[in-house]
Amino acid sequence: MSTSFPERPPTARDLLAFYLEAGVDCALNDEAIDRLSEAHQPAPERAAETPVRALPPRATTTPAPPPRVAAAPPPDIAAATARDAADTVNTLDELRELLDAFDGCALKATATRLVFSDGNPEARIMFVGEAPGRDEDIEGKPFVGRSGKLLDLMMGAIGLDRTRVYIANVIPWRPPGNRTPTPQETQICLPFIRKQIELVDPDVLVCLGNPSSQTLLNTREGIMKTRGRWVPFDTGKRVIRAMPTFHPAYLLRSPIYKRLAWQDLRAIRSALSGSVSPG
Ligand code: URA
Repeated sequence: MSTSFPERPPTARDLLAFYLEAGVDCALNDEAIDRLSEAHQPAPERAAETPVRALPPRATTTPAPPPRVAAAPPPDIAAATARDAADTVNTLDELRELLDAFDGCALKATATRLVFSDGNPEARIMFVGEAPGRDEDIEGKPFVGRSGKLLDLMMGAIGLDRTRVYIANVIPWRPPGNRTPTPQETQICLPFIRKQIELVDPDVLVCLGNPSSQTLLNTREGIMKTRGRWVPFDTGKRVIRAMPTFHPAYLLRSPIYKRLAWQDLRAIRSALSGSVSPG
């Protein structure tokens, strides 16, 4: 950490800079919790060895601590539970209900709501991103923020819109402060997105960006290498074709790659029109 303390008394800006460097980049509650005062609450009184007389309980003015959120189970147990649970559902509605009831992923506790899907469950093409951001967390739908607007334009360029595609994310809850999901969180959520793909049963799967491509296609290769290439994807019901391409958020930061994204989109359009067989 590189924060150096100024000679003058620290200001609110100094404090925020300190928090940022410490990795604290969003508030989880409106009210701060004073953990130090909780830790200093009086310990329960020990029974005296030879009681002289029982004292009445001491009145305390310390407010009750906030209710604790149940701790999520260890990641390997949660991942196994997720796999077993995902196997039990047969419809997208059941999968959504299952996720609403699933407490194995700690991200659920900090997210506002589940971001399950948008679009048409009968679609022939499914787009999968990484995880919801702030706008998606507020609206409960994937890709509704700035990168969603670009995704709409990308789809529009090949004659698609949200009535003709199905959209979801590998992780259905927003990570706090939009941080990168941990490998454990990804492993816990993987059985659910795999089941979602199986139930939608698209002909074409488009993985948006590195995390989605690497997780779903089980590769360590980066998007620069994998983009634009068709790979077989076993949904559990049948083998379909999948293509990694750039995440729209990446294209917003690096518009120079829009040219390559356009090539990928054209290949996707050809695959949907049946004029090209997967390589
Ligand atoms: N980025 C994603 O990967 N998914 C969303 O839903 C929004 C932004």
